[in-house]
Amino acid sequence: MHGLRPVTLCLLLLLHGALIFMVNAGITSSFVRKEAKSIDMPFSSDVFSHPPGYNAPQQVHITQGDHVGRAVIVSWVTQNEPGSSTVVYWAEKTPNQKHRATAGKVTTYKYYNYTSGFIHHCNIKNLEFDTKYHYEVGISTRRRRRFWFMTPPAVGPDVPYTFGLMGDLGQTYDSNVTLTHYEMNPVKGQAVLFVGDLSYADHYPFHDNSRWDSWGRFAERSTAYQPWIWTAGNHELDYEPTIGETKPFKPFLHRYRVPFRASGSTEPLWYSIKRASAYVIVLSSYSAYGMYTPQYQWLLEEFPKVNRSETPWLIVLMHSPWYNSNSYHFMEGETMRVMFEPWFVHYKVDLVFAGHVHAYERSERISNIAYNIVNGECTPVKDQSAPVYITIGDGGNIEGLANNMTEPQPKYSAYREASFGHATLEIKNRTHAYYSWHRNSDGYAVRADSVMFFNRYWHPKDDSSSRA
Ligand SMILES: *[C@@H]1O[C@H](CO)[C@@H](O)[C@H](O)[C@H]1NC(C)=O
Ligand SMILES: *[C@@H]1O[C@H](CO)[C@@H](O)[C@H](O)[C@H]1NC(C)=O
Ligand SMILES: *[C@@H]1O[C@H](CO)[C@@H](O)[C@H](O)[C@H]1NC(C)=O
Ligand SMILES: *[C@@H]1O[C@H](CO)[C@@H](O)[C@H](O)[C@H]1NC(C)=O
Ligand SMILES: *[C@@H]1O[C@H](CO)[C@@H](O)[C@H](O)[C@H]1NC(C)=O
Ligand SMILES: [Fe+2]
Repeated sequence: MHGLRPVTLCLLLLLHGALIFMVNAGITSSFVRKEAKSIDMPFSSDVFSHPPGYNAPQQVHITQGDHVGRAVIVSWVTQNEPGSSTVVYWAEKTPNQKHRATAGKVTTYKYYNYTSGFIHHCNIKNLEFDTKYHYEVGISTRRRRRFWFMTPPAVGPDVPYTFGLMGDLGQTYDSNVTLTHYEMNPVKGQAVLFVGDLSYADHYPFHDNSRWDSWGRFAERSTAYQPWIWTAGNHELDYEPTIGETKPFKPFLHRYRVPFRASGSTEPLWYSIKRASAYVIVLSSYSAYGMYTPQYQWLLEEFPKVNRSETPWLIVLMHSPWYNSNSYHFMEGETMRVMFEPWFVHYKVDLVFAGHVHAYERSERISNIAYNIVNGECTPVKDQSAPVYITIGDGGNIEGLANNMTEPQPKYSAYREASFGHATLEIKNRTHAYYSWHRNSDGYAVRADSVMFFNRYWHPKDDSSSRA
C-alpha cells in the first residue's frame, strides 16, 4: 500500500503546517486511437535498406563525446571488413581546413550464433561550440558517406535549447511514424533524450541481433545528424542464459558508446552531460543502485556538482518510471524511488523522463518522501521542490500500447493517454521551458499536451496551471 491509497482517504493533508489541497485528478484522455497491434517492418522495408557498395558504412549515429559538448562520438558499422576507423570533418565555415580523427576503435561481438559487423567508434574532440560540422566515414573506400551536425552553444544559464524526447521506439510501422513526426514537427529538436528500449531485437528467437542492425539503419536518418543521449532499458539487457548469453547489455554496449568517464562514472550505464543550459543525468534502472553500489555512490557525489548558475535545468533520464498509474509495469520503479527520491527533492530536479510503459503520462509536482513504512503517510503530496515525472515510452514498438490504466486516476497524475507519440522541451532561458507532447495521430504541428515549466531553482512558482 504505497503511493496509491484511494484518494478519498486523504483529500486534505496537513503537512509541515501548510494546508495542502490536492486538486481534482488529472486528465485521462478519451482520445480514440487504433487498437491494432504494432508490427515490425520487414527487413525488405525502405527504412532498412543497406547503403550501396562493398563495405559501405551503415548505422551511423552520434552522441555527445565529453561533459560540455565540444566532442562528438561518431559510430558506424562496416559489414565485410574493418576498413578505416578515421573520421574526416570540417567546420562548414572553413571547408579547406579538414581534420582527421584517427583514434577510432573497432569492435565486434558474438551473440549465440550471430556475429556482428565491425563496429567503429571515434570521438572527435576540441570542436567549436555552436558550429556546423560536416563529417565523412568509410574514407578508405570509394563508399565514403558524408553527414553533418551542429555542436551545441557553450554551456550557460540562459542559452535556449530544444530537446526531443522519445522512448521505447522499436522498429514497427508506428515507430517509423513517431520518428517522422519528430522530424516533421515545426518545433525543431536539436538533440534527442532517449529514455531506453531501442531495437526490441530480443523479441525474436535467439534475440536475432540482425534486428539491432536494422534498427541502426532505420534510426540513422536522425542519429547521424543530431546526438541521441542514450539510456539503457530492459530490452538492452539481452540476458539469456538458456542460450549461454549471460553478460547483460552486451549488444547495446558494443554498439552505443557514451562519455561516462567525463562525469566520473565507472560504467557506461549511468553518467551525465551538460548541454547548453541543461544538466542531464542518466540512470540505469537495471543496474544495482542500493546503498554502497557504484551507481548509488556516483549519484551521491554527482548531485552536489550541479551548479544551477551555470546549468539551471536539472533533468534526469531513467527507463522505469517512479510515478506510473498504468497497470503495466505498475510500481516497477518503486525501489529506485525509495532510494533516490529524497535527493531529487533536495536538489530540486526540474524534470524526470522515463519510458518502459507504452503510453504517455505527466505527473503533478509531487513527492512521497515522508513515507517510511510505519507512519502511514503513503500518499504522494504536492511539493514545489519536486520534479514533474513524465513517461514517454510511447515510441511505437512491437509490444503495442499499454491501455489498461489504474482507476480512478490518482491525483498525482496530471495527464495520461495510451497513444503513440514523442515530446519536445524548448528551454527558453533560466526560468522558462515550454514542453509539449505530440501524438502520432495528429498533424505534425499539433501539441496534444503542453505546459510552460518554471525552473525549480530560479523560479520555483507553481506551474501546474500553466497548461497551454
Ligand atoms: C541461428 O540459429 C537459429 C536456430 O537454429 C537459426 O534459425 C538461424 O538461422 C541461425 N542463424 C545464423 C546466423 O546462423
Ligand atoms: C517510413 O517513413 C518514411 C518517412 O515518412 C517513409 O518515406 C517510408 O516509406 C516509411 N517506411 C515504412 C516501411 O513505413
Ligand atoms: C557556478 O557557476 C557560475 C557561473 O558559471 C560561476 O560563476 C561560479 O563560480 C560557479 N560556482 C561554483 C561553486 O563553481
Ligand atoms: C487491467 O489491469 C487490472 C489490474 O492489474 C487487471 O486486474 C485487469 O485484468 C486488466 N485488464 C485487462 C483487460 O487486461
Ligand atoms: C524567459 O522566457 C519566458 C518565456 O519565453 C519569457 O516570458 C521571460 O520574459 C523570459 N525571461 C527573461 C528574463 O528574459
Ligand atoms: Fe521497457
